[in-house]
Amino acid sequence: MISLKGRDFLTLKDFTPEEITYLIDLAAYFKKLKREHVLHDRLRGRNVALIFEKTSTRTRCSFEVAAHDLGMGTTYLDPKSSQIGKKESIEDTAKVLGRMFDGIEYRGFGQSIVEDLAAHADVPVWNGLTNEYHPTQILADMLTIREYMGSLQGRTLAYMGDARYNMGNSLMIGCAKLGVNFHVISPAKYFPDEDLVHQCREWAGHSGAEIVLTEDVMEGSKGVDAVYTDVWVSMGEPDSIWEERIEDLTSYRVTMDVMKNAAKDAIFMHCLPSFHDLDTEIGREINQKFGLTCMEVTDEVFRAYDKPLFDEAENRMHTIKAVMAATLSDEWKID
Ligand code: CP
Ligand code: NVA
Repeated sequence: MISLKGRDFLTLKDFTPEEITYLIDLAAYFKKLKREHVLHDRLRGRNVALIFEKTSTRTRCSFEVAAHDLGMGTTYLDPKSSQIGKKESIEDTAKVLGRMFDGIEYRGFGQSIVEDLAAHADVPVWNGLTNEYHPTQILADMLTIREYMGSLQGRTLAYMGDARYNMGNSLMIGCAKLGVNFHVISPAKYFPDEDLVHQCREWAGHSGAEIVLTEDVMEGSKGVDAVYTDVWVSMGEPDSIWEERIEDLTSYRVTMDVMKNAAKDAIFMHCLPSFHDLDTEIGREINQKFGLTCMEVTDEVFRAYDKPLFDEAENRMHTIKAVMAATLSDEWKID
């Protein structure tokens, strides 16, 4: 019997394949309950704090809706309106919030900040995205692949773009642990950190997954089950790097040719938000400066493969619910 009660959720590195699978199973169970309008508010009377030092749509809404479904209250702390960091240290903040709340979510910059928070709070701390990792996103991604492919073991996911940041790192860890082959397709300078690749290859040795790093788009995407990409410039990175990223990554955009080269029933995946058209401020700015009408994925691919993509976004909520539920209580029985 797996119990995660009292655990922090900071990176998938800390979890065994069995524990990660348990969280995905629990999320699928909650999704079923939600679809059938079965209440699952067993955590009534509890409260969670949601700290966002970077902006969010999906993660914030997922934590809020999931907490309410579980019967819990939420307090949202935005990037400007708390004392965190400016007038109060992370250590003191953790000690205060730990006295008032049953769990704390943190989205922000360095992983060391969320680790510091977890070290000083006596309640579970959940990573809602740092520069290095985005572990709740990976649970949603794996649930989505499982829903479409029936299983994870032996499937192949290709990640195109900057693989050195939170999404590339976390996908590689999740895939390595769960037996999903992971292909990085990018210029070599965007390959993930060598030590992390080495560590993931050790996990992959146990799970049967293969980790491939290639600069060749057609070789890396041949026959894969899922093609994944992310924005070329992440939150917190300076605007001045757009030019270099556009130059380096334009030939690593997900196009229809890439999707046709993948397996016949392949899905397109993206953590979102995405720059696939000119309906965003940044999209229009980049268009005026560099003439691009889309960035990491074409609008054609984005719209042609939108069903799994928005299932993936919905699955953020079910999986975040599983993380909170499992770390706050071990009374969940999956039927
Ligand atoms: N995928 C994701 O984390 O989305 P948000 O930035 O909207 O939370
Ligand atoms: N790499 C992106 C992920 C957004 C969900 C960022 O950090 O901005």
